[in-house]
Amino acid sequence: MTQVKHNDTARSSGAPAVSEYTLAHLSDPHLSSLADINPGDLLNKRITGYLSWRGHRREEHRPEVLRLLLQDLHLLQPDHIVITGDMTHLGLPEECREVNEWLPSVAVPERLTIIPGNHDTYVTAPWEETLGLWAPYMASDQAHTQSQSAFFPALRVRGPLALISVSSACPTPPFFATGRLGKVQLASLDQLLFETGAQDLVRVLLIHHPPMRGVVGWRKRLTDGDAVCEVIRKRGVEIILHGHSHRSAMNWIDTRYGSVPVIGVPSASGIGLKPGRRAQYHLCRVSDSPQGRVLDVTVRGYDAGQEKFVIQGTQQFRLPGDNVTGSL
Ligand SMILES: [Fe+2]
Repeated sequence: MTQVKHNDTARSSGAPAVSEYTLAHLSDPHLSSLADINPGDLLNKRITGYLSWRGHRREEHRPEVLRLLLQDLHLLQPDHIVITGDMTHLGLPEECREVNEWLPSVAVPERLTIIPGNHDTYVTAPWEETLGLWAPYMASDQAHTQSQSAFFPALRVRGPLALISVSSACPTPPFFATGRLGKVQLASLDQLLFETGAQDLVRVLLIHHPPMRGVVGWRKRLTDGDAVCEVIRKRGVEIILHGHSHRSAMNWIDTRYGSVPVIGVPSASGIGLKPGRRAQYHLCRVSDSPQGRVLDVTVRGYDAGQEKFVIQGTQQFRLPGDNVTGSL
């Protein structure tokens, strides 16, 4: 859709010129088929997730919808693609392998960044057999370790963007879909936001659970969301992208640098059995304007009648975050 077109003229701060860069945001594809599931795999919390999938989720999350989304995405050719979690239903090793086989059909790891969601960590499972399979699509540019404990937050610099990924995915008791970053990840996020802000990059925080209260119900919340919002208020960030709600969501976090847009998308595979759940994805174009940096969001959604994705809305935001200052 767009090409990275960096101006020769650097910004007065010496920061990277934005010009124009387009990020596609999709989420919650829940693409695994659960075709040959072993009953022995369900002798834990996974039985509740499996029954939920048998009951309605398999009717809602349709591979043909996801295929149409990818067709649309490939026609429009965004500069980079992010998927904010819930690739699977139950986080089984077989499902994670299935996702790993699907990922190259989206893009190469250089152009695709993913994070896990709560469904990808349904119960405790060996990292190497599950999420670790997706490491090329999640790892920091400067990854010094592939170990689970030090993996997130991850930083990938693409064009003018600093893509900062955190993992809110963790196993929870039955009937809960909460998330948590934890103190260690939060401290690293604090430092990373400070460092990338000082470089005047456009910081994009990728998180599965929406960080603020009220966007999803109590049993689906981010349990340390208040602490996450506190770090965001202190350090600033330009854009927050999330999934989890399976609905369109537009919220704001007020920081000392201005208001930060917090944007959620519905599932990438939703056929829309319930209102507001039909599949959409967003094209987020960041560009320079005489008034400063601007974010244009184009909503592309599944049109069941036409059996294709079509434009369903646009919105423009002025981004805060220029000339970030502060001290550790
Ligand atoms: Fe989900």
